[in-house]
Amino acid sequence: MTARLIDGKALAAQMRAEVAERAAALRATGRLPTLAVILVGADPASQVYVRNKIAACEQAGMRSLHETYGAELREAELLARIHALNQDDSVHGILVQLPLPAHIHAQRVIEAISPRKDVDGFHVANAGALMVGRPGLRPCTPLGCVRMLEHIGLGDLRGRHAVVVGRSNIVGKPMAMLLLGMNATVTIAHSGTPDLAETCRRADVLVAAVGRARMIGADMIKPGAAVLDVGINRLEDGKLCGDVDFEAARELAGWITPVPGGVGPMTIAMLLSNTLQACEQLA
Ligand code: GUN
Repeated sequence: MTARLIDGKALAAQMRAEVAERAAALRATGRLPTLAVILVGADPASQVYVRNKIAACEQAGMRSLHETYGAELREAELLARIHALNQDDSVHGILVQLPLPAHIHAQRVIEAISPRKDVDGFHVANAGALMVGRPGLRPCTPLGCVRMLEHIGLGDLRGRHAVVVGRSNIVGKPMAMLLLGMNATVTIAHSGTPDLAETCRRADVLVAAVGRARMIGADMIKPGAAVLDVGINRLEDGKLCGDVDFEAARELAGWITPVPGGVGPMTIAMLLSNTLQACEQLA
């Protein structure tokens, strides 16, 4: 079997067009959805991600504020800036790009963002809301994965096994919670899981979010599975690749996301959608 591709780029474009329509409706009522994006330091990958987020906002008819600070910025200064943005009624979403320099406590910074403006969904209030099934802002990458599964007809995973490889607060853990909400039986694994290949081979839905180039090989894929690759790894030749060995996995999987052009574009579309949600709910 050769897997069908889940075209994240095309699906994200469709979702961004829907966001643009909703943004236009809000603008017509005098509200301009606005996202503040803060970048500390000059990490090249973060600079690219931030640039893409800002461009996407503008294309969707939303306003963005882009603030860049040197890596020596003190944590107290960053916290003060976030407090000011929390108070600013013209700002609906606040995103602090991660990773932060080592002297800044990332979770303390995240907790400083008002949960109503936490468009990343990383604040403990939003993480808790996801855990107990209450409304809230959901993390963008896992939410993008959910939208992809819905798109291929896997919106209800009752009777199916989902395996998430990776346990980060920004992808692995919230992804597992969202899959539970879709009625899947869920396993969270990681690079140190014994018999990882055997665990992955049980997955009807496999989400790879480990950050290691091509570590998910053909021996880890159940025939017919939906494989979502969250990894973005840069190879020595400069090319991007995912956590999944794409060429090997596509011979077995039923569905697979490419890298680039899979989950990445969906993350940005969900960020826009979250910003709009925040704007609608703050009004
Ligand atoms: N760095 C890598 N992914 C993300 C993300 O989804 N949000 C933020 N704020 N930083 C990131």
